[in-house]
Amino acid sequence: MKKNNPIGIFDSGVGGSSIWKEINKLLPLEHTIYLADSKNAPYGNKTAEEITNLSIKNTEKLLALGAKIIVVACNTATTNAIATLRKNYDIPIIGIEPAIKPAALQTTAKSIGILATKGTLSSALFSKTTREFTKDINVVEIIGEGLVPLIEAGNLDGPEMVSLLKKHTKPMIAANVDYVVLGCSHYPYIIPQLKAILPDNVTIIDSGEAVARQTKTVLQSMDMLRDENTAPKLQFFTNAETDTLKFLLKNYSEKISVEKKEF
Ligand code: SIN
Repeated sequence: MKKNNPIGIFDSGVGGSSIWKEINKLLPLEHTIYLADSKNAPYGNKTAEEITNLSIKNTEKLLALGAKIIVVACNTATTNAIATLRKNYDIPIIGIEPAIKPAALQTTAKSIGILATKGTLSSALFSKTTREFTKDINVVEIIGEGLVPLIEAGNLDGPEMVSLLKKHTKPMIAANVDYVVLGCSHYPYIIPQLKAILPDNVTIIDSGEAVARQTKTVLQSMDMLRDENTAPKLQFFTNAETDTLKFLLKNYSEKISVEKKEF
């Protein structure tokens, strides 16, 4: 029975839907429930305690809705709260961390950029991963100040976005980075805008596919993959307006439901 329960996914808002897309691509038969905590976005400027409390609230809701596994589709929540969640709940919990290791292994310029929230960049887990993998590499860490609110508003292409991205990428370009790591699940939605600003030799990497692979591996190893063949139920709940989620998921509108809900 449990294997046919949904995968529960949460994010501070709409950005984790970029992770949902990867999960749905790899595991198309799985039921999913996605919680967008947009009312409390962005998490990136909150304290570790606030982020942990919000992550607990979201996890409790997903468990009440029958989730068989929790995917924390938010870098800020992962880096600040995943240890507490794993301690508190007897259920597999998958997190998302910036893809520092692959960038560090592949850079030939020995210089990489990381774009993430203040909450992620200042977390202990982030510092540990960075120290471990980037010993002989120049790392330019940039707080993506202002980006999450624009993405939450569905404002991906306006002049404000362009000018923020120019400002945030300037130090990376000056340091000749050849890899830019996206350390926030909202940022895959602005890859085209970043590509238009960054030099052609720069590769942008995010962690969506790796999270989906890890989710599959864990479910497989626990014999928890869904074994029914009917179309899955793909539910999205947001505690703010539904417009941006619907816009970002417009290619899936036939098969998903998007609703406003208090949580
Ligand atoms: C935020 O809510 O500030 C961003 C979410 C993330 O870090 O993925």
